[in-house]
Amino acid sequence: MSLSVNGSSPKLNFLIYGRTGWIGGLLGKLCESQNISYSYGSGRLENRASILSDIDTIKPTHVFNAAGVTGRPNVDWCESHKVETVRTNVVGTLTLADVCREKGLVVINYATGCIFEYDEKHPLGSGVGFKEEDVPNFVGSYYSKTKAMVEDLLSNYENVCTLRVRMPISSDLSNPRNFITKITRYEKVVNIPNSMTILDELLPISIEMAKRNLTGIWNFTNPGVVSHNEILEMYRDYIDPYFTWKNFNLEEQAKVIIAPRSNNELDATKLKTEFPELLSIKESLIQNVFKPNQKTSVA
Ligand SMILES: NC(=O)c1ccc[n+]([C@@H]2O[C@H](COP(=O)([O-])OP(=O)(O)OC[C@H]3O[C@@H](n4cnc5c(N)ncnc54)[C@H](OP(=O)(O)O)[C@@H]3O)[C@@H](O)[C@H]2O)c1
Repeated sequence: MSLSVNGSSPKLNFLIYGRTGWIGGLLGKLCESQNISYSYGSGRLENRASILSDIDTIKPTHVFNAAGVTGRPNVDWCESHKVETVRTNVVGTLTLADVCREKGLVVINYATGCIFEYDEKHPLGSGVGFKEEDVPNFVGSYYSKTKAMVEDLLSNYENVCTLRVRMPISSDLSNPRNFITKITRYEKVVNIPNSMTILDELLPISIEMAKRNLTGIWNFTNPGVVSHNEILEMYRDYIDPYFTWKNFNLEEQAKVIIAPRSNNELDATKLKTEFPELLSIKESLIQNVFKPNQKTSVA
């Protein structure tokens, strides 16, 4: 946050939480490719002393929080593990933000946009997305409930940059966490337009946001929406011409999951204004995911 005496920025040194996680792992690789010095934190988020010790040892310029409880195999796990979910997602995230505030450090916090659902003012298909200042209207799953709670509490911390990630996608189609990989493996899928986050494009942007010391809440998705079927059509056109799938509706989906899932459009205007080169979700899917993985000659 400070400038050195000769006016140049101090050398970047990132402290990252979430070493064993999907986003945390990708962040480390990005730092390596950009020659940014970084270390993974060894402390647990809810343990104030362990965070302080990491900061004292590593002396970071910025802290990245890609640690969180997401549930395995999916967020339904949180319904039966509420205390564990609160411990990391609420107590832990707040503790990290609080310690970093005390130390004058910006925290780039990978949060979620799954705290909204389409409503009368933001109907499906309208192109009217939820803005950063909108109050969450989806607490249907315990995971989303804890994330909405902590987002509200974190808004008091001027050192925190909250990035609302949604349905993350990466070019690694073998990763079972990848939204594309998930929906190609489901027996049946719903078909609803949603805002989504292409990690190959957006994680480098989050590093740039740290360099700019940006804080506050950000809808961290590519502009626009894409539906499940549109993604599966791209998958068929670029990857597997014989790929087929079956749809089902929300009522049928409700029978195979425990907690409801959110479907929404987030308004990405704030991010697009800061980063005008940001691609729309459909452009980014083709450029960053499907073209690099292309196996067909027809698309
Ligand atoms: N993947 C998604 O669909 C998605 C969507 C939107 C937002 N997000 C958010 O983005 C963040 C990262 O997601 P991800 O998919 O990369 O998660 P992930 O693969 O499940 O990894 C979570 C990471 O958090 C660490 N962790 C959990 N509890 C911790 C604690 N109390 N203290 C320190 N580390 C802890 C885990 O380490 P251990 O194994 O050592 O516990 C692991 O490294 C999460 O907050 C998630 O809510 C994810």
